[in-house]
Amino acid sequence: MTAFWSLYITLLTVGTLIALFWLIFATRKSEVHKNPTEQTMGHAFDGIEEYDNPLPKWWFMLFLGTLVFGAAYLLLYPGLGNFKGLLPGYKDGWTQVNQWQREMDRADELYGPIFAKFAAMPIEDVAKDEQALKMGGRLFASNCSVCHGSDAKGSYGFPNLADDSWRWGGEPETIKTTILKGRHGMMPPQGAVIGEDGVRNAAAYVLTQLAGRELPEGEVADVAAGEKIFSTTCFACHGASGTGTPALGAPDLTRPSAFIYGSSFAQLQQTIRYGRSGNMPPQEDFLGNDKAHLLAAYVLKLSQGKNE
Ligand code: HEC
Ligand code: HEC
Repeated sequence: MTAFWSLYITLLTVGTLIALFWLIFATRKSEVHKNPTEQTMGHAFDGIEEYDNPLPKWWFMLFLGTLVFGAAYLLLYPGLGNFKGLLPGYKDGWTQVNQWQREMDRADELYGPIFAKFAAMPIEDVAKDEQALKMGGRLFASNCSVCHGSDAKGSYGFPNLADDSWRWGGEPETIKTTILKGRHGMMPPQGAVIGEDGVRNAAAYVLTQLAGRELPEGEVADVAAGEKIFSTTCFACHGASGTGTPALGAPDLTRPSAFIYGSSFAQLQQTIRYGRSGNMPPQEDFLGNDKAHLLAAYVLKLSQGKNE
């Protein structure tokens, strides 16, 4: 704000306050009229007349109170142009951002040493600590459950973190890397490469030979042709036996219960035809190392199936 407008607002506000103080005292009835009288103001509205009495004391004090409150507020908080207010504890005056920052700093001061203590322990050991798991659970609820679900069991497009099947690997440090750096699974569309029949046959191969399920009734497909496609195209990422390649995030196709895009014949064909592109956003900037460490321990514990 320019100095002119700052001064303008300040003068206007302070001037109004002073004028109001003056007004309330100036219009207060003198000693003579302190006691209620029968005297009226001399006017009548639809036959209703008004006694010429002083304001009730409580009302007067209340009015005064609001003025004092206003003045104190303007002294403590920013309200007068560029004046930042004198509220103690804020270097640059109170603002919502400064208040948020102060609360964050306090929390860091309070919990920082606890996070740091756990961050210095191996993830496996943190996963055995009750307090750490409680803190991890709270972090999970506020940062991860939107996608992975409050029970961490995932949903369509989001992997279950409470099982022992991993797309990117379940080693403690790998889980932590996943959380810090994020992951982007890229299953390229195969429709144009292998054609519609190829999509159908490859899906049938995955369903019946890898996932161990039956083709839906009435569907026919050439599973042998599907196998050929698999061993020339798909194996590069999913491995010759279809058990996946964690380095690429290519999932194990022998565990249909862990598929995130569905395991029906139709859904498999969709996946193969159009590809998939799951994205786990990196958390490093939001959470930092110490919280990711705790979360990795929490997820590790979940996957061991012993968490409530
Ligand atoms: C370039 C590597 C690559 C190739 C080639 C590839 N895939 Fe994939 N596939 C992936 C990745 C990575 C994912 C995980 C995508 C994601 O997480 O969004 C995936 C996911 C899938 C899924 C979904 C699993 C789930 O969780 O729902 C199926 C089914 C699948 N692939 C089958 C195939 C078949 C069949 C072929 C061959 C026709 C093939 N893939 C070729 C990398 C590959
Ligand atoms: C915006 C949604 C989203 C949020 C938020 C999110 N995730 Fe994920 N996460 C995903 C997706 C999608 C994948 C699967 C990526 C892929 O296709 O490979 C994933 C994968 C993972 C994996 C790897 C699973 C495996 O099988 O290897 C872990 C571990 C994980 N997330 C943990 C977390 C934790 C802990 C948090 C909270 C800090 C979190 N995620 C927050 C969407 C999310």
